[in-house]
Amino acid sequence: MLVANSIEEVRKIISAQKKAGKRIGFVPTMGYLHEGHLSLVEISKKHTDFQVMSIFVNKIQFNDKKDFENYPRETERDLKLAESAGVELVFLPDDEEMYRDRLTYVDVLTLTDHLCGAFREGHFRGVFTVVSKLFNIVQPDVSVFGQKDIQQAAGIEKMVYDLNFPVRIIIAPTIREKEGLAMSSRNKHLSPEQRNRALAIHRSLQAAESMIESGEAGASVILQKMKQIIEEGKPDKVDYVSITSYDTLQPVDRIENKSVIAIAAFFGTTRLIDNMIIDKGDKGFKCIY
Ligand code: PAJ
Repeated sequence: MLVANSIEEVRKIISAQKKAGKRIGFVPTMGYLHEGHLSLVEISKKHTDFQVMSIFVNKIQFNDKKDFENYPRETERDLKLAESAGVELVFLPDDEEMYRDRLTYVDVLTLTDHLCGAFREGHFRGVFTVVSKLFNIVQPDVSVFGQKDIQQAAGIEKMVYDLNFPVRIIIAPTIREKEGLAMSSRNKHLSPEQRNRALAIHRSLQAAESMIESGEAGASVILQKMKQIIEEGKPDKVDYVSITSYDTLQPVDRIENKSVIAIAAFFGTTRLIDNMIIDKGDKGFKCIY
């Protein structure tokens, strides 16, 4: 596995691979890899011939300085995991390489009005800016993102469409711990007791699923039940429990078309997010989470 710290090295390696006719798959990450990240590489391998991963804790997407400083970092372990997953090139830049003399940002409007966009000022602008830069550096044919960060994935799809990036975006399923907690690098910060309480998030999604399967479509009824279940986990703070349209990420009163149910809640000082996509199936709606 190759490891490149500079943009120039990445460009040389990618251009040689492209000349050899290889299709480039790309998984951007902030490291502290877990099975969720590795599952994205597995999917990327099905569509492309040369796997690239970036590991970069992107300072400009952190609205909270403490969160940035405490973000877990373990590069040696990450490199071993990436290699065992079949990654062929890791791009591991530092702040200076990525953000020297920067004046330009990329933003996606309205899709970021609600959900995390309403609580983390500047976060998505930081994400879309770094992903634009990474796409221009790596020039992938395919790039895979997790459903776990649904607003991020939707925003990147829109950005790629609006700015004509020549890359296909794939949204991959959320990988969970056995008990249902969505895997996240931040889960490391949860005490066993907080982790246990946080399972209420998954239980609230299961409850929403059974309500939807039995024909309930009213957002306020579903949200009331979900909030009650989340409260049973004694969260330290709930940012939102929300039902939105899938296409616009704007709140809806009833589930009539493809929708998203999304949650953000703190257990201790750790902010967890999770979501479910509600799509039309053969018999009524099906829930994907
Ligand atoms: P990070 O949180 O490291 O996540 C990298 C990718 O892994 C994202 O596409 C995320 O949605 C996906 N992912 C995280 N947890 C997952 C899980 N449990 N199952 C499946 N996929 C999961 O998201 C970021 O980094 C950054 O914002 C980034 C896009 C790299 C830009 O800095």
